[in-house]
Amino acid sequence: MRTVDKSSRRSAFVCQQCGHSAPRWLGQCPGCGAWSSLVEEALPAPRPRGARVAPSTSAAPQPLATVTAGDALRRPTGLGELDRVLGGGLVQGSVILVGGDPGIGKSTLALQACGALAGQGCTVLYVAGEESPEQVRMRADRLGMAESGVLIVAESGAEAVAELIEKSRPAAVVVDSIQTLATAALASAPGSVGQVRESAAVLVAACKASGVACFLIGHVTKEGTLAGPRVLEHLVDTVLYFEGDGAHALRVLRAVKNRFGSTNEVAVFEMGEGGLVEVPNPSAAFLAERPVDAPGSAVLATLEGSRPVLVEIQALVSRSGLAMPRRTAIGLDPGRVALLLAVLEKRMRVALHDQDVFLNVAGGLRIDEPAADLAVVAAVASSARWRPLAADVVVWGEVGLTGEVRAVGRAEARLREAARQGFRSCVLPASNARGLEAPNGTRAVGVATLERLFEVLALA
Ligand code: TYD
Ligand code: MG
Repeated sequence: MRTVDKSSRRSAFVCQQCGHSAPRWLGQCPGCGAWSSLVEEALPAPRPRGARVAPSTSAAPQPLATVTAGDALRRPTGLGELDRVLGGGLVQGSVILVGGDPGIGKSTLALQACGALAGQGCTVLYVAGEESPEQVRMRADRLGMAESGVLIVAESGAEAVAELIEKSRPAAVVVDSIQTLATAALASAPGSVGQVRESAAVLVAACKASGVACFLIGHVTKEGTLAGPRVLEHLVDTVLYFEGDGAHALRVLRAVKNRFGSTNEVAVFEMGEGGLVEVPNPSAAFLAERPVDAPGSAVLATLEGSRPVLVEIQALVSRSGLAMPRRTAIGLDPGRVALLLAVLEKRMRVALHDQDVFLNVAGGLRIDEPAADLAVVAAVASSARWRPLAADVVVWGEVGLTGEVRAVGRAEARLREAARQGFRSCVLPASNARGLEAPNGTRAVGVATLERLFEVLALA
């Protein structure tokens, strides 16, 4: 095993804001005065005096045209949706960070990918740092892959894992999780920013050198970043986030960085008794429990990556007993919601100042795009007026401060998805509706203002 002699350990505490280096940890950086900004970093081994760095011979320039594209080195994992998010499969020597809240299903996804790869006859190594091999075996039993040829090792030394990778050269390795790994070069505890970064660097170097694809699993910390200030994202080739609401079964896998594919791809899975199952029709899954004729429910056509998906936005407006009425938005940006409520109150005279307003995206999805505005407004107005929207209408569009409805991207794709799911009528920005060909059996109604929206939806 490769070990580092602790007496020769060379590390320094470096300020992440100004680069000041100190021999030990300090609460405040003497260089710039920032608090808690010092992180332990490994220092390179000292060079003997007068020794010159040997020039690297591999850096000779070559014509771009003679560089061969690496697509031939792509191997599908066998989990179709995961492959799609990865851009068509696992690229040899690539490092993929899988981030997400604890308990969301990262280990399950990784183990299922291992099982699928092993099923194709590939050697796969699972490095268990969080759980014991027995626990992983129990999960494998549950996933029906107990007989798969996945190799497992309980190891938490980064150098030891790197040596295993270089020696056994599996097709893929899973490190669960990067926060349990530690390199002997640093004295800090596993999970600290310095350790996470240095351990990942050791593994990345080993994987690149031996052409082994690697999944690094990382927990998202309370601040919503991976082990501190996104310390790993620039180190790895691909960053996938596994999202969802623990209370719901639906999970969304999203690429936020991908050197080997598009970041617009999104996969939807459902967590069941036998592990994660791909959801081929996400719209139907997100709308499965939609109530009919219930005030406060509106269907939105949103884009998940490049894919149009229909989701239900629910609103409940109810009289408040508080001096400061409550505004709760789950799955939506609270600042955006506050703005829309103000527009509704001022422009449309919907009295909300003495009302609690609760909003929720059914199914546990998070929506960031402004195209959700029109559906939020429709759901809130529908609850406030206690009038249900028609069951076969889909709404989308951005709302401006003067109550105007603004165009959003990919109207045609949204329209097609609504038609495919059997919705008869789409209410969308007027500037999007112009020249838009609605599929048979579906009507596209353009609205330019909130007044017009209220007329069309019979909320006026
Ligand atoms: P896990 O993969 O351990 O999450 P993470 O690694 O992201 O922390 O998944 C944990 C949850 O998934 C746990 O609450 C149990 C549930 N689960 C199922 O519902 N079905 C299954 O087949 C498996 C393996 C897990
Ligand atoms: Mg886990």
